[in-house]
Amino acid sequence: MDLPKLTDLDVAGKRVLLRLDLDTDPYPDDLRIKSSEETLDYLKGEGAQIIIIAHKGRPGGKVDESLSLKPFQPIYNRWGADVKENLRFDPREEANDESFAREMASWGDVYINESFGNSHREHASIVGIPKLLPHAAGFRFQKEVENLGRVIENAKHPVVFLLSGVKQDKLAYLDGIKKFADKVLIGGRLPDYMGDEKLVSVRSRGENEQVIVGNLTMDKEDITLNTIEKFEKEIEKANTIVVSGTLGKYEDEGHRQGTERVFKAIKDLLAFKVAGGGDTEKALQVLRVTEGFDWISVGGGAMLEFLVKKTLPGIEALKQ
Ligand code: 3PG
Repeated sequence: MDLPKLTDLDVAGKRVLLRLDLDTDPYPDDLRIKSSEETLDYLKGEGAQIIIIAHKGRPGGKVDESLSLKPFQPIYNRWGADVKENLRFDPREEANDESFAREMASWGDVYINESFGNSHREHASIVGIPKLLPHAAGFRFQKEVENLGRVIENAKHPVVFLLSGVKQDKLAYLDGIKKFADKVLIGGRLPDYMGDEKLVSVRSRGENEQVIVGNLTMDKEDITLNTIEKFEKEIEKANTIVVSGTLGKYEDEGHRQGTERVFKAIKDLLAFKVAGGGDTEKALQVLRVTEGFDWISVGGGAMLEFLVKKTLPGIEALKQ
């Protein structure tokens, strides 16, 4: 995919508007924070004046001090960068309002998107500003597209996709996932959202089915032992694995078994392994299996949408 490269953009001595993924906690070693360091180092080396724009949470177009970006400022002092306040405090960000895009564009001379994790959103800072300023993808953004691209182009089959976690809206991607994955293993809270009828019909089709819906424990906080074993068997056969979500409420030791066993089974495999999403990434760290993965995406929803649609609104905006 041909994205405009940062190294082709003239940033020397310019005011650079840098869109980051700060929808996380302000810790310097957080994946979303660390992911932009290469771009920041490059910009500093070029003598650019960096203006950071980003959002955190869903304040609904109103000021909510608990979602302020002020706590992030100290992290970026070493690059001499200025962190602007949470863009979603202004309702015009999510409305993709042109006047807001123009206002933001006036703060910089060029624009860089280093927010892959928010690029599935048609918001002013993602799709509006690139229409107004010379622009490029950040280094991390470029790598996200390359690594996730390996799952959908020339992937080594079988491709096994773990669709899990607690966010019901993930199920909307199931049909799209079935187009490139040989097996989809559904865990976390998602089986509970699928409805009794669908659940029974999916389960009764047996081993050769493309979609395997896990059984949940009585309290619905983990997958059952039987499901763990079924998932492990499928994982063993995989040459490409994608993990989107945890298998249960791994934060509680009593509900960690599914996530721990399945993630460990993946870690030891010789396959191309990617994972994405904030909770998944934290679980990988807690369970100390991060090193077993080839790529950990900063995108949760953005990763799913990219894999299914092969593009994102933020990618299309950069290509203009
Ligand atoms: C994310 O964390 O997935 C992105 O920051 C997007 O957040 P949103 O789902 O609130 O748009």
